[in-house]
Amino acid sequence: MEVKRENILITGIAGFIGFHLARQLLERGYQIIGIDNLNTYYDVDLKYARLNELGIAKHCSEFYNREVKSANFKGLSFFQLKLEDRANLPNLFRKHNIDVVCNLAAQAGVRYSIENPEVYIDTNITGFLNLLQCMRENQVSKLVYASSSSVYGNTDEVPFKVEQSVDQPISVYAATKKSNELLAHTYAHLFRIQTIGLRFFTVYGPWGRPDMALFLFADAIAKDKPVKVFNQGHLSRDFTYIGDIVEGIIATLEKDLPNNSKYGIYNIGNSKPVKLLDFIEALEHSFGKTAQKEMQPMQPGDVHQTWADVSDLERDFGYAPTTDIQTGIDNFVEWYKDYYRV
Ligand SMILES: NC(=O)c1ccc[n+]([C@@H]2O[C@H](COP(=O)([O-])OP(=O)(O)OC[C@H]3O[C@@H](n4cnc5c(N)ncnc54)[C@H](O)[C@@H]3O)[C@@H](O)[C@H]2O)c1
Repeated sequence: MEVKRENILITGIAGFIGFHLARQLLERGYQIIGIDNLNTYYDVDLKYARLNELGIAKHCSEFYNREVKSANFKGLSFFQLKLEDRANLPNLFRKHNIDVVCNLAAQAGVRYSIENPEVYIDTNITGFLNLLQCMRENQVSKLVYASSSSVYGNTDEVPFKVEQSVDQPISVYAATKKSNELLAHTYAHLFRIQTIGLRFFTVYGPWGRPDMALFLFADAIAKDKPVKVFNQGHLSRDFTYIGDIVEGIIATLEKDLPNNSKYGIYNIGNSKPVKLLDFIEALEHSFGKTAQKEMQPMQPGDVHQTWADVSDLERDFGYAPTTDIQTGIDNFVEWYKDYYRV
């Protein structure tokens, strides 16, 4: 049965995916509570700028655990709050009637996790458990959460299928995402919380993350600096446009798992891997400029390829990505030029 739910808690709302998801849901009339710790892993002003688009002004959101109501959307409240806060997160759940949770808050980034493993455990594992506990104590019955294609590790079995073994992560980041899937299974089993894990495949688009390839390449091309091409360009990624990702998330929020199941894991990708050098070529086309390429070795923790089999998400939730790579990159470059005035 399809159920339209009213109050959605989005964690990581100032992040790339959380912001886009919130905007779409608000335009569709949902009530949203958004939380984010506004950390400085990347340019925090970009996070404030995204919040500003949602009607949450910077000077209001700078205070910890204070409710800020949106000036643009009457259905939105924001709290600067940490996922691992064991006093204030439970309070938030007690005070608000939350129907469903979408957990997008995480310490992201594969390479950063090699040097800074602790923050990944704090946010992605301790924080995730805190969220599950709040749901359990307040009888919140549905969780959609971000997992990652990185759980597949360095495998040659393509396209990646959910049934494949994911027991050999090659970064701390990937290990924490796999841990989320295990904890979600436990809470689904013990407390009948419906949990849907989405393994995202390299998401890109306007308002994207400054630590990710597209942004780094665009920045280098715009500033006539060399583009660092890892593994001499012998990498491919299943780049997935943000608009398609948001439609996929909304489908899983609006519809329940089939057969009254309480535990689901799905790939969410474009299912059309693109070679790194073709990706750069599409970017050159958008900028109307040739990139200076600087060939670099393979980076520790990185995988050679990603490619999602999305047939399960198609079957159960009608997922159908539609954005081709050139259109997606053109949209990103248009935003980038406008935002950074280049
Ligand atoms: N973007 C991708 O390509 C991609 C790929 C695979 C998985 N994911 C996952 O999707 C989710 C969203 O990714 P994104 O690209 O929007 O990343 P993002 O870093 O832009 O967004 C995450 C947000 O969570 C917030 N956050 C971090 N730690 C927190 C904490 N302890 N408490 C509260 N808020 C906290 C950050 O401030 C940030 O705004 C993450 O879980 C990420 O691991 C993303």
